[in-house]
Amino acid sequence: MTGFSPDWLTLREPYDLRARSREVIAAVAASVATLPSVHIVDLACGTGATVRALTGHLPSRQVWRLADNDLGLLGRANAMAHADGVKVTTVPLDLNRDLEAALDGAVDLVTTSAFLDLVSKSWLDRLTTEIVARAIPFYAALTYDGRIDITPNDPSDASIVAAINEHQATDKGFGLALGPEAAGHAVAQFERLGYAVIHRQSDWTMEPNDRDIQLQIFDGWAGAAREIGAVSLADTASWLARRRANIAAGTSSLRVGHVDLFAVPTGRR
Ligand SMILES: C[S@@+](CC[C@H](N)C(=O)[O-])C[C@H]1O[C@@H](n2cnc3c(N)ncnc32)[C@H](O)[C@@H]1O
Repeated sequence: MTGFSPDWLTLREPYDLRARSREVIAAVAASVATLPSVHIVDLACGTGATVRALTGHLPSRQVWRLADNDLGLLGRANAMAHADGVKVTTVPLDLNRDLEAALDGAVDLVTTSAFLDLVSKSWLDRLTTEIVARAIPFYAALTYDGRIDITPNDPSDASIVAAINEHQATDKGFGLALGPEAAGHAVAQFERLGYAVIHRQSDWTMEPNDRDIQLQIFDGWAGAAREIGAVSLADTASWLARRRANIAAGTSSLRVGHVDLFAVPTGRR
């Protein structure tokens, strides 16, 4: 499974859904509750996880515009079932090049999930500037924040986690990524620009029975550590073997830190 493969996004979606902050979703819902219909743009939509997570919390008439540059994921998003009154259209678009086009037109709310940690500081500043200029509320779920806690502990965890976080800060198509710094930077920028921001932890939690996703995560992390090269290949391989053995023995659990935020204009600018 690759970083954005449909299989990976499908595997992670229930964990994402469980992790999303109910408090932040309630704030999003309250901000649009009185609108007769809501026009929403979802940035980097993947297969449409944010539509599925939010739709039951919003007024029944919803018009979603889903933007992504992966045509296979957009095809799946387009085919998703949704309630009467909910309209979904997809927009193939490179957000690095054409962010402003994604935000054009009538928009009551901009959303995204599992995306902000991929972007650079300059792109995030561009996003916050464009959103604030349009006075649109902004919901960003599931931004990775650098915290990883694996049970049982392993002597190589610290060096592997350091390598993962170094990998998180490499270029993911938007310039050097903010990675674990992204949520904090977004909160600071929105507050600086006069928005009120609510932010809460939305950590993934995986128990010993959550074997498939833990296998995928550890494989992916070993691959990231290999690309960074700070831990020897032999040490990374033996760490992965121990992690896989723990999963097989039913003793592996995992917490991965994420942050959800909702930023809303205050009218004080
Ligand atoms: C981790 S996935 C998250 C997908 C979805 N929001 C979710 O929560 O399941 C990151 C998404 O960013 C999209 N993406 C990455 N770079 C992009 C770009 N330059 N323009 C548009 N979308 C991009 C990927 O195609 C992928 O769908």
